[in-house]
Formats: sequence, C-alpha cells, structure tokens
Amino acid sequence: MAVKLKFILLIIAAVGSGTAMDTHRTPRQNGPALIFTAGNGEQCLGSDRSTGGVCLSRNQCNTQGGKAIGFCGVFATCCSLNACDVRTNTKVAVFINPPLNRESSGLECSYNVEINNNNVCQMRIDFETFNLAPPTTVEAVENVTSRPGYSCRNDIFQVTNLQANSDILPPLCGDNNGQHMYVRVNASTNSRSIRINFKIADRNTQPNLPQATWKIKVTQLECFNTLGKYRDGFLEAITSSLPSTPLSSSADRDEYLIAPPGCLQYYPDRTGAFESFNYNRGAGPYIANLAYATCFKKTPDVCGIKLTAASFEMAFRDDTNMYLDTDCQTNPVVQGSSQSEDYLFIPEAETADGLRGSKYCGSSASDQIIASTPPGPLYVHFHSDNLVTTDINESGYRFNYNVLNNCYLRTNTFP
Ligand SMILES: *[C@@H]1O[C@H](CO)[C@@H](O)[C@H](O)[C@H]1NC(C)=O
Ligand SMILES: *[C@@H]1O[C@H](CO)[C@@H](O)[C@H](O)[C@H]1NC(C)=O
Ligand SMILES: *[C@@H]1O[C@H](CO)[C@@H](O)[C@H](O)[C@H]1NC(C)=O
Repeated sequence: MAVKLKFILLIIAAVGSGTAMDTHRTPRQNGPALIFTAGNGEQCLGSDRSTGGVCLSRNQCNTQGGKAIGFCGVFATCCSLNACDVRTNTKVAVFINPPLNRESSGLECSYNVEINNNNVCQMRIDFETFNLAPPTTVEAVENVTSRPGYSCRNDIFQVTNLQANSDILPPLCGDNNGQHMYVRVNASTNSRSIRINFKIADRNTQPNLPQATWKIKVTQLECFNTLGKYRDGFLEAITSSLPSTPLSSSADRDEYLIAPPGCLQYYPDRTGAFESFNYNRGAGPYIANLAYATCFKKTPDVCGIKLTAASFEMAFRDDTNMYLDTDCQTNPVVQGSSQSEDYLFIPEAETADGLRGSKYCGSSASDQIIASTPPGPLYVHFHSDNLVTTDINESGYRFNYNVLNNCYLRTNTFP
C-alpha cells in the first residue's frame, strides 16, 4: 500500500513538472479533440516499428484484452487492441475491429463498458474510425416509385443501455468517421453498464460489401465532479490520461463535454461542423427511422447559432413552400398514400434571404446561411421516415456552425 502511495505521489510530481512547461496551453482552447493527449487513444507503433497500436496505460491494455507491443507516452504501453469480446470499466476505453478480410464469414463483437465510479452520468462514444456496410433498401420494382427507407440490414452497430427505461439508441451503419454519440447512464441502478455491439455480415455471401473497420473511444463523463468526489476515479484517470493539471482539469474537461439531457450528439465547441449519419462524403444516404437531437453549448453569452450548409439534400413531400415546414410533413397524414416525413428541424430559424421556417427538407437549407435563435437549448432535430421515393435524393447534410452572441442585428447575424 505504502509503495502504491509513493508511486502515486511520484506521478503527481511528474505531472506537476509537466504542467509548468505547459502553462500556455489550456484544455478549453485546444477543444475536446485533444483532451487525452499523452497515453490515451493515440496511435503508436510497437517495438518492431511496424505493428500499429493504441497508446494506453498497462492496466487499461490488460483490462481491454489487449497485448502490449511496445512503449509510448509517459508510463504507457503501445497496446494492440482488437479483442472482440471485452468487458472493461476504465474511464477511457478504445475498441478496434479484429482483423477482418474480404472472406470473413460474419462476426459479432460486444464491448461491455461498466460504470467506472458513482459520478459517471454519461458516456461519450467517439467514432474515430467507423466504416460499415451502408444502409440499404429493397430492389426497385418497375412502376413502383416508393420503397422502404435505407436501414442497416447488413452490418449493424448498436448500443444497448442495460438499464430499464433507458433511451432507445438508434442502430447505425455506413460511413460515420468522426461522428459521435452520447449514452446516458445512472450509477444508482443495478445494471451499471452499456453494451456496444458490432454485428458484421458474412463477406463470403456478400463479397461486394466494403471491409468493416472501426476504432471507437468511450469516455465516461462524471457529473457533480467536485474536487472531493472526483478523487474516486483519480488514479485511473491520471495513469491513463495524464491531464496537464491534475485534479481540477479532468473534472473541467468532463464538465465541458457533458451534454444536456436528451441529446444524442453534442458539440461543445463554439464553432465546428456536423453531418447526418452515413453522410458518406456527400453521397449518403441517411438512415431511415431516426429521430434524434444534435445539441450545441449555450454559454451565458450565446443567443443563437449560425448554420451554413456545405450540402443539404433530403426527401420532401411537396415544394410549394420552398421545402419548408408543411412541405416536409403534413398533419393529418393523408390517407392511402405514404408521404415523406424527412426533415431537419431547426428551431426559430431564419435564412439570410429572410425565409422563416423550422422544418427543412428537399434542398431548402443548401446554399443558405441560417440563424437559429430559440429561447432555451440550442439544438437541431433530425427526423427520417421509412420511405424512399425514386429520383428523390436522400444524401443528407453537412453544416458548419458558429454560435452567435448577437441575435438582434441582422448585420451581425449574417456578416
Ligand atoms: C409499367 O407501366 C407501363 C406503362 O404504363 C406498362 O406498359 C408496363 O407493363 C408496366 N410494367 C409492369 C411490370 O407493370
Ligand atoms: C437513477 O436511478 C435511481 C434508482 O432507480 C433513481 O431513483 C434516480 O432518480 C435515477 N437518477 C436519474 C438522474 O435518473
Ligand atoms: C444527391 O445529392 C448529392 C449532393 O447534392 C449529390 O452529390 C448526389 O450525386 C445526388 N445523388 C443523386 C442520386 O442524385
């Protein structure tokens, strides 16, 4: 025990001296992408100088079923991490696909992530690499214009929160590199874990499917992480992620990343980009039957958000209102014929051209600057139905965003 304590103090000293040199950097300025720099989730090379791995603490590497293949960072191992069935409770966990080739006969990989400590309230899953088979629909039949929506029928990624009454998380597939999602957890319930499942289709029978590859990072975020409470998870955090200022900065970083309740995705930075699932560099298609919120941080100085579409192509019902609101969804539903109900809901939105509307479909948000200035939280809500229509594009969207701190003067809203 005494030895262990000495070891901890040694690490604190080491980290402390690192901090002095690093004072010009603050985690806020770096943004969340660079949160766990030393020894956590970074690519590394094994001692043979050719095998790739992930830089983790030795303990993390062991609990994730990995194999140490070299050294990296400070006190860390280069870990070869592609076990398929893993149970772990580390504060940050990285999972990589096992070697899969064109002849792989299907596979199911399950990762059980158990709550690290009682303060954990959310898990953020970052899809650093995420290439699965795309969503599909049935083959077109002559003279029939509508088909079921594109859904994940081959490869399927799904997160199950094992707690009763938990949010239902959508199955995903396709190209989701750089995307992320949040899972809400409750340490007070009996089932203190989530299960992340990749179900990979047989490549023998479907040789045209692309190779499935993934590298996902699961970060356990702690709510109410006052200094005293945070110490529970401290040892693992410091050995694995070596925060630049011990104690308070890890808590700060968690706080920065905590999403408002109900958000599947959360962008805490003041500026950035977001896209629909399986945006696939503009080719899409987006996945059917989704309904989820993408949220942004509303600090006290922020009153709205400016969205600029790099591209925007969704299905539509009609075009009489320039692909806004009732063109995207009607009420009541017209009996007998299915109508598109795909849209992106942007609350209290106005385009630079002066168009007002909240549901955007078709191409209404393309080539537009949109200001959304709602009271309450900043978010957009994606909705897709289970219908595709011949010749109607469902490739999806990518937006750049900036939060606004002046929502009254249009000259400022639309510089
Ligand atoms: C499709 O419609 C065309 C024109 O109405 C008709 O000639 C053809 O037989 C139809 N094909 C099928 C498979 O019903
Ligand atoms: C967590 O679960 C406990 C026990 O079921 C419940 O009493 C509590 O309200 C839950 N907390 C949250 C934040 O949902
Ligand atoms: C759909 O729209 C996207 C973006 O505008 C474009 O790249 C793509 O070629 C279109 N696809 C079809 C089938 O029209």
